[in-house]
Amino acid sequence: MTDLIDVSFQETNLDQIADATGSLAVLVPETGKLGASARRLNRLTKGSIARAVESQMFEKAKTGDVTSLAFPVGVASEKLYLVKLPARCSATQARKAGADLAKVNGDKSLTLMADGHRETASIVQGLTLRSYAFKDHKSDQGDPSGAVLVMATKPEEVESNYAPMRAVAEGVMFTRDLTNEPANVLTTSEFADRLVELSSLGVEVEVLEEADLEALGMRTLLAVGVGSESPSKVVVMNWKGGSDEKPFALVGKGVVFDTGGISIKPAAGMEDMTMDMGGAGVVAGVMKAIAARKAAANVVGLVGLVENMPDGKAQRPGDVVTSMKGDTVEVINTDAEGRLVLADLLWYAQERFEPVGMINLATLTGAIIIGLGHENAGVFSNNDDLADAFLKAAATEDEGAWRMPMGPGYDKLLKSRIADMKNIGGRAGGSITAAQFLKRFVKDDVAWCHLDIAGVASIAAETSYAPAGATGWGVRALDRLIADKYEG
Ligand code: BES
Ligand code: MN
Ligand code: ZN
Repeated sequence: MTDLIDVSFQETNLDQIADATGSLAVLVPETGKLGASARRLNRLTKGSIARAVESQMFEKAKTGDVTSLAFPVGVASEKLYLVKLPARCSATQARKAGADLAKVNGDKSLTLMADGHRETASIVQGLTLRSYAFKDHKSDQGDPSGAVLVMATKPEEVESNYAPMRAVAEGVMFTRDLTNEPANVLTTSEFADRLVELSSLGVEVEVLEEADLEALGMRTLLAVGVGSESPSKVVVMNWKGGSDEKPFALVGKGVVFDTGGISIKPAAGMEDMTMDMGGAGVVAGVMKAIAARKAAANVVGLVGLVENMPDGKAQRPGDVVTSMKGDTVEVINTDAEGRLVLADLLWYAQERFEPVGMINLATLTGAIIIGLGHENAGVFSNNDDLADAFLKAAATEDEGAWRMPMGPGYDKLLKSRIADMKNIGGRAGGSITAAQFLKRFVKDDVAWCHLDIAGVASIAAETSYAPAGATGWGVRALDRLIADKYEG
């Protein structure tokens, strides 16, 4: 498990600057006007700060950029960072600046002279989010991350603003660790075990085993896992932080590895399918975040944990299976398995919990990557209010999300000759027909969003807030949606 970096807060003490070890960071507005900490630092370093601020380098730097000075005279620190940040900046600008700072600074300990900057907590959240490395399987663990000391005019205020952001960051790290984990380690059983641990935060966790799923009639979900040695499981996580209102439901695709099954995938790149449980990973991270910050909302998270393997017992193309809802599905392609998992899971969530709203997350289609690349997740919905609320939350948290169309014209591509529907609709509009398939398992009066996160859950290049690999995309946006829309 990846722990958050250690952050502490104290009142600004200018006399401590000269002796601070590790790195020192100070905020400088675009105008170049130095604050109290920067002035003291300038004096100690015999005018280095003023020279740097007058330089072309600082002038050319964009908002949030970090200019670094190595081995400055007059102070113990080895590195000195000027963070270009106006006093009136957005939370996103501050978060990005913090993330940049973490990236530039690496593992070294850091003293951040924030003075009275109002977005200090967001700077710290950015620092926290970008201070991540998945090292569990490295023999050389490297140096442990140094601690961060934040000096501020009102340290208690900053610390209390940071507290919920810290909880959310813990959720993000949980998601990233799960999503980065290889499939021989994160089996369905190991995944369920890690979710059971959320009970220490007050989440009620229930694990449904294959016999339970059989009894419930979840045959489309079970059909995906029959070729695997790992048992299929559904984990229900219930956070009851509200009063007696019905919960909001989060539903996640948790395919711990997707070979494609009998419709097997090509070898090249198949290793990426360890992240095919990314949707379930985000659901887990959000549950951790809301429990850690004791959200005043009722939220239930459901994940379907299965492995899609080819085997003598595996389902075949052409098989017909009956869903929990009762509709029959002709499985044309066993690689379109996520929707089979979600069909039963969505239905079960509605039957059991009558949720006030429901969002599912899934690394569902390669087609969404063709459409939106790695910048935005696809948002499909039957309800404009919920979709708009989610898009707003995602924008606030700087997590890319883009609304996609749905409609009966796409739905008819799922028509089957022998069953109620096929599980694929052909290459054209592949992400949309996948969404249409899911919609068939959503009751008309339930506000629902499907987030296709295949392009954003795990990325080969680093992003603003994460190194290459799992991003934790969606944890912040969903936490904010819950805070804005469902917390009383
Ligand atoms: N897990 C994949 C989708 C995926 C692709 C996720 C790339 C992340 C990166 C999904 O189960 C899948 O195989 N989808 C097929 C659907 C097709 C058979 C209709 C696809 O996208 O090719
Ligand atoms: Mn697949
Ligand atoms: Zn898949």
